[in-house]
Amino acid sequence: MNPEEPSITSTSRRDFLKTTGTVAAASVLAGVNLPSAHAQGSDLIQVALVGCGGRGSGAAVQALSTKGGPIKLVAMGDAFEDRLKASYDNINGTIGQNVAVPQDHKFIGWDAYQKAMDVLKPGDIVILTTPPAFRWVHFTYAISKKLNVFMEKPVTVDGPTSRRMLQLAAEASAKNLKVGVGLMSRHAKNLMELHDRVNNGEIGDVILMRGYRMHDPAGYFESLPKPDTISHLDYQVRRFHSFLWASGGNFSDFYIHHIDHLSWMKNDWPVKAQALGGRHFKTSPEGIPFVDQNFDTYSVEYTFKDGSKFIFDGRCVTNATGIYSSYVHGSKGVAIAARANDMGGPSAIFKGQNLEGQPVWESTDRTNAYQNEWDELVFAIRNNKPYNEVERGVYASVTTSLGRMAAHTGQEMTFQDMLNCDHEFAPGLDKLTKDSPAPLQPGPNGRYPQPQPGVNLKREYA
Ligand SMILES: NC(=O)c1ccc[n+]([C@@H]2O[C@H](COP(=O)([O-])OP(=O)(O)OC[C@H]3O[C@@H](n4cnc5c(N)ncnc54)[C@H](O)[C@@H]3O)[C@@H](O)[C@H]2O)c1
Repeated sequence: MNPEEPSITSTSRRDFLKTTGTVAAASVLAGVNLPSAHAQGSDLIQVALVGCGGRGSGAAVQALSTKGGPIKLVAMGDAFEDRLKASYDNINGTIGQNVAVPQDHKFIGWDAYQKAMDVLKPGDIVILTTPPAFRWVHFTYAISKKLNVFMEKPVTVDGPTSRRMLQLAAEASAKNLKVGVGLMSRHAKNLMELHDRVNNGEIGDVILMRGYRMHDPAGYFESLPKPDTISHLDYQVRRFHSFLWASGGNFSDFYIHHIDHLSWMKNDWPVKAQALGGRHFKTSPEGIPFVDQNFDTYSVEYTFKDGSKFIFDGRCVTNATGIYSSYVHGSKGVAIAARANDMGGPSAIFKGQNLEGQPVWESTDRTNAYQNEWDELVFAIRNNKPYNEVERGVYASVTTSLGRMAAHTGQEMTFQDMLNCDHEFAPGLDKLTKDSPAPLQPGPNGRYPQPQPGVNLKREYA
């Protein structure tokens, strides 16, 4: 772990802010690194979308909204036809002038990712927004095709794929590819300014941080037994928040943003975690047991190497108090980091430990971090600036998996235990076909194996 690593993006961002809007300055910077297929800002950048769901459609619109040169969506790939069609209609309806995806560039199936990337040329961009289990498979292919990449978080959900992803990150940098990771808090200007202020000592030494994401069940958090009309594989991929192999469960999918941005405030990653959680209400209103692998409550105590703590609470329970925000306590003051949701401002600093009265500082920026992260990635591509967020994305993903696994096993664990854990949830995903067995098989009662703290100590499920 390198506590200084957040500077990977800070450097590109500083350059971006200094030179944006000034073509002359940008062209002076072009070519200072290894040759890139897009040193000239006026080149057409082609984009392919792999994983055409909600986030993929949003990311494609943001890609096509970047300024600085022509950019077009030219290919799409998804495991399922209905998802691709809905996504195409959505993107085309929003920003149709930048959409040029003929019927024969719309690919369906488990090899659709290869066919969509085959449409591109080196230096173009592929958007990887499937469930995270497939990230390393798709990233490997993107690197082989010399493509720049935007990939969504989490980038990994277990130890073996995290180690693999770190190697792929290095390979991408060696090939001068630019890679953005969808931890958009890092591009939220309210949080960037707060980070600077915390690091300038405005709240003193950081001694405690708190993150909460507690709301009603959301996404595919819970799942009823599989209907006969669909295969186990398709069911698990479509409902990926329910299955640890596909997503790391709701813990990894929902909670990574707070875990990432609070670690950033500390400029470090936690060294260890202990956690608890449980399944309390895992039956539908009709009395049918849910078969997914998620706990509905989690509470994690992370520890940093200076002994300071970060408490994260997650809950998906109807009618319980909803809290979705994050805080940083220092020896001289307290800060609101995300006032609402994953990163929503205004962020603020208060004297003392009470979040009451007039803040001594409050953020004013209202830009959209989802657009900012794309503006910065495309700027780096057009101006051949170093840009690779994958290593940081892996550390955030491992820190998240650490909290989840500590809760699921009931064991205190270190960051290194998580990174070196040998349980790969879904080996062989690079060889997946429609006839492959699903990575998770249900027991005779239709239930999938669930975590049992204190029973399974080394693996999250048997
Ligand atoms: N940064 C954020 O705020 C944010 C918000 C939402 C989602 N996400 C992330 O984006 C990713 C996708 O989430 P979503 O909400 O868009 O889910 P989604 O189900 O809406 O979209 C996923 C798409 O991927 C497709 N797919 C699944 N496996 C595939 C494969 N092997 N090859 C090709 N296509 C495949 C699915 O059919 C679906 O269309 C997740 O990693 C999620 O955590 C990030």
